[in-house]
Amino acid sequence: MKKTTTLTIDGKKIYADEGTTILEAARQNGIEIPTLCYHPRLKPLGRCRLCIVKIKGLDRPVTSCDNPVQEGMVVATDTSELQDMRRRTLELLLATHPYEDCLTCVRTGTCELQEQAYRSQSDLPEQIEREVPIKPVSDNPWIVRDEQKCILCGRCIQVCRINVGRSVYSMIGSGVNTRVVPYRDGREVSLEEAGCIFCGQCVDVCPVAALTETNRKEGGREWELASVPGVCIECSLGCYLERRFFDDNLIKVTVPEEGEKVSWLCRRGKFGLREREPASFTAVQKYSGINYVDCDYEEAVADTAAALRSIKENEGGKALAVLAAGKLSNEEIYLLQKLAREILDTENIDLGIEQMWLKAVRSVQEISGTGTAGPVPRDIGEAESIVIVGSGLKESHPVADMAVSQASRYGKAAVVEISERREPLNAWDGSVITVKKGWEGAVLRAAMDLLKGKASSEAAKEARIEKNELERITNLITGSNSILIVTPEFFAGAGADDIEALIAVGEKTGMLARGQNKMLLLSRFSNAAGVAFAGGAPGCGPGMQILSEDRGLDRNEIRKAIENGRIRGLIIFGEAGETSGSKNPFTAAVCSDYNEAPEGADYLFPAQQIAFKEGCFINAAWQQRCNEAVAEGKADRPSDWRLICDLAIAFGAKWEYPSLEKVREEMKEKVFVGKAD
Ligand code: SF4
Ligand code: SF4
Ligand code: SF4
Ligand code: FES
Repeated sequence: MKKTTTLTIDGKKIYADEGTTILEAARQNGIEIPTLCYHPRLKPLGRCRLCIVKIKGLDRPVTSCDNPVQEGMVVATDTSELQDMRRRTLELLLATHPYEDCLTCVRTGTCELQEQAYRSQSDLPEQIEREVPIKPVSDNPWIVRDEQKCILCGRCIQVCRINVGRSVYSMIGSGVNTRVVPYRDGREVSLEEAGCIFCGQCVDVCPVAALTETNRKEGGREWELASVPGVCIECSLGCYLERRFFDDNLIKVTVPEEGEKVSWLCRRGKFGLREREPASFTAVQKYSGINYVDCDYEEAVADTAAALRSIKENEGGKALAVLAAGKLSNEEIYLLQKLAREILDTENIDLGIEQMWLKAVRSVQEISGTGTAGPVPRDIGEAESIVIVGSGLKESHPVADMAVSQASRYGKAAVVEISERREPLNAWDGSVITVKKGWEGAVLRAAMDLLKGKASSEAAKEARIEKNELERITNLITGSNSILIVTPEFFAGAGADDIEALIAVGEKTGMLARGQNKMLLLSRFSNAAGVAFAGGAPGCGPGMQILSEDRGLDRNEIRKAIENGRIRGLIIFGEAGETSGSKNPFTAAVCSDYNEAPEGADYLFPAQQIAFKEGCFINAAWQQRCNEAVAEGKADRPSDWRLICDLAIAFGAKWEYPSLEKVREEMKEKVFVGKAD
């Protein structure tokens, strides 16, 4: 437990944990101190000197954002001397800031410089010319830099270096000509040349309009944007985000401002939703034999139901299949599996899951217990040792890679990756034990042998791994506060024996135990956990119940069955890859783009825009995270869950789901919907 420190701020007696900064202690007690470079999610920068306070016994004021409380300290935050000093600091900043732009600036109303200038009632000084580019630089599709507006707070430098694991920006020059620029090998370069991955996190922390999203000027001022909490479904980490709307349009996505649970975003999270819009069609499309033509929704639903019913009656449910690309919400998965099993009478259902991942998750659930949450990026950042099994983490789950970087460079973690990767490390400092593709399982078996005390083993020979490397791995996974991250690449090449070795290592090291799970199993499908728990895998019903040993077909088997003409009717949600065959099945596809549509699909139903989708997802740590509903009238096409219900009703089923809430109520009785986060 932390020791409590007693101090006085502005005459008020205050108790604060040892190590708390003066600024934090003041704010925790309702005393406001002005700040500019301080950001609650970054380490203190101590650059702007706006947060200065007077401490009894010291001649000069000190910055409160980076100085800790001390026993008996007497602090004054708002003397006239401090006010004058702050005003002078702000006037110096304003002298080099184009404040006449405030009239048209997108940050007006939320600009932190503007706010502090107003609060201190600073005079507007004569402008001092700086040697910085006059025009904003827009040399990439995502981020615009306007150096005229930069106040040199250093937030972007820090978030990029410490939290993202890149070091794109540097501060160069001196005096009024000091600049923050993308920098590499001793010269100013473009963001891309400086190694930027366009995660946009520097944009989210910039206090002024020096860094903004591209085209930002067109979408309303910041304070005019409605903010709707949501979750990123670009990968299975399910990072929290805020969707920001203006006039029914998604303008931007930001990382939520507050909260312990919040992690950073990567490029797909920050910019992916906007890149997806708009869709290439918003009315149902019917294939005329030559091209697609607009079609009435009710007619398309009735025709689809009639075609699938006829196949079921003539050839049985085994001739039908349902596929999805892993981005459906839990509610949609639940309804779609119900449609497949209860109405289409088919077990050929794969809504986005790998069989080997499912096998691993079942075992983890048996050992740890349903509802035992796994590690999240914050836990990775605090780990002392991290073992990554499989390659491609940076590409598949970028925020997990950022957390590894933070833990290894600025935390305490030793990191080792077992993979086929050979390229130089750039996101984190650690070592890669290179093994041939698909041999990670052999390394795990060898590690298991070593943990059991076998000095040499067949598995070690098979994996061609040196003894010292093996010892390094076992030392790390048995170390205190260790985390094992398993990438989708591992699951893609794994066999049943590899999964057994993975679970055995987890149990032997105590990473897996009742109520404990230190293994982050990453699927390539965003809501694979939702698919597992809500029943969207072949032979795996709601609540992960095994329905029959003779399970239906998974996505690869369905594709083969389409090729050889055994699947005659198909429903597909999202991009589901190549689905044509010698005899094209009747296909109803739900997608947002002609490019995503399966060749020759009979009907294309416009997919609901993800930005507008309401629903819950389960992330890789088994936490439920939800997209809150966007206000009425913003969606321009029927929601996907409603389409599933309409199809069931067209079959004659008595489904009564007036709202998503009703679906959730039914699910609660049968399905683990993720641990509350
Ligand atoms: S977008 Fe991300 S990687 Fe690029 S400079 Fe900003 S924080 Fe760094
Ligand atoms: S670009 Fe923004 S975040 Fe970076 S130093 Fe300038 S004002 Fe601060
Ligand atoms: S790491 Fe995954 S969930 Fe997080 S922002 Fe990136 S794509 Fe989205
Ligand atoms: S907020 Fe403390 S120095 Fe900037």
